[in-house]
Amino acid sequence: MKVVSIVGARPQFIKAAAVSRKLREQHTEVLVHTGQHYDYEMSGIFFDGLGLPRPDVNLGVGSSSHGSQTAAMLKGVEDVLLAERPDYLLIYGDTNSTLAGAMAASKLAVRVAHVEAGLRSFNRRMPEEINRVVADHLSDLLLCPSHTAVCNLAAEGIRQNVHLVGDVMLDVLNWAQQRLATEPSATLEQLGLKKQRYLLATVHRSENADDLQRLSEILNAFNSLDETVVFPVHPRTRKMITDARCQIGKHVQLIKPVGYLDMVALVRAARLVLTDSGGVQKEAYWLGVPCLTMRSETEWVETVETGWNKLVGFDSGRIAKAVYSFNPNSPRPALYGDGFAAAKCVDLLDEKVLPVPSDQSQIAL
Ligand code: UD1
Ligand code: UDP
Repeated sequence: MKVVSIVGARPQFIKAAAVSRKLREQHTEVLVHTGQHYDYEMSGIFFDGLGLPRPDVNLGVGSSSHGSQTAAMLKGVEDVLLAERPDYLLIYGDTNSTLAGAMAASKLAVRVAHVEAGLRSFNRRMPEEINRVVADHLSDLLLCPSHTAVCNLAAEGIRQNVHLVGDVMLDVLNWAQQRLATEPSATLEQLGLKKQRYLLATVHRSENADDLQRLSEILNAFNSLDETVVFPVHPRTRKMITDARCQIGKHVQLIKPVGYLDMVALVRAARLVLTDSGGVQKEAYWLGVPCLTMRSETEWVETVETGWNKLVGFDSGRIAKAVYSFNPNSPRPALYGDGFAAAKCVDLLDEKVLPVPSDQSQIAL
């Protein structure tokens, strides 16, 4: 089987690290990097740190408006598909790279498999929500991390070829924990941090980072705390902080984005996590770290239902209050599978490869 995999943004490199390894045990993979993320700390660091194979193709699209960026990717992915004629196109998550991959392949009648299918925030103002809905409706194989995701698809009439496989991010986290046991991260020491004596923050959602009022509320909350806040800053957020000359308290350590192993080390030793990231909410849960999510809704509703994640929006007073009052001690049941999701994804790809259609005219167009 030949699979073209599309990655482009940070969380996709992490997810692909699990699947790519399994896929290449038996099949041929052509790994395409769209170039959506390109700074070393947003891209190369993950290829170096996760053992992810180098991309076979880098489309180098870079940053631009949603339309221009997606269009450049669409053209680039189409060229690769016409040259490679794979059995499957594999996409991850909900970024513009995901959307472009799904659109390019479905127009060429190349089967699309979507890892992390079925997630919904039910907020169409999020670009990710649009990407997810379109990608799912164009996909031939829907690989879901949760029962909720399966139900979300059913509610939209998607019931065929939907499979609950669990979350490939748990596979990667388990791998990272093993790795850290033999090769500990030096990050805590380098940053002068003590276990349980700091908060870890990430902010990058466009609804928070591109809205100065919201970002100021979040930063004011951090500034008002009397605990160290370690904040690896996404370039989108860094730009706003720099352009708007936002004030940052001395106890708030703005650092460059870190590699995955260092991030896991930072999350698991934190007293509490403050984030608007999808991946970080789950990692905090799996690692038993209380999480405050600075959004109005989450796709990972189970983390909230179990009591370990709380939606606090972006009001500075509400965030600061929750930092001191949120102290979950409810049970923490296993969520999002058993840590073997990647193998299940690959098995399903294998099972669902249908005979190549006799009429190849569509792919030749
Ligand atoms: C994208 C995804 C989002 C995902 C996030 C993961 C979309 C619509 N959004 O958001 O779902 O959660 O990645 O991190 O696909 N920039 C750099 N260097 C880089 C990358 C970005 O400076 O290597 C800056 C540019 O100014 C760019 C901005 O960050 O305009 C935003 O990057 P972009 O990829 O458009 O969106 P993300 O916010 O990263
Ligand atoms: N991450 C990382 N370094 C950082 C920030 C995040 O390795 O400086 C990891 C994080 O642990 C998680 C993933 O990146 O695995 C989440 O990516 P991001 O928050 O950018 O995107 P989202 O998950 O919200 O789509």
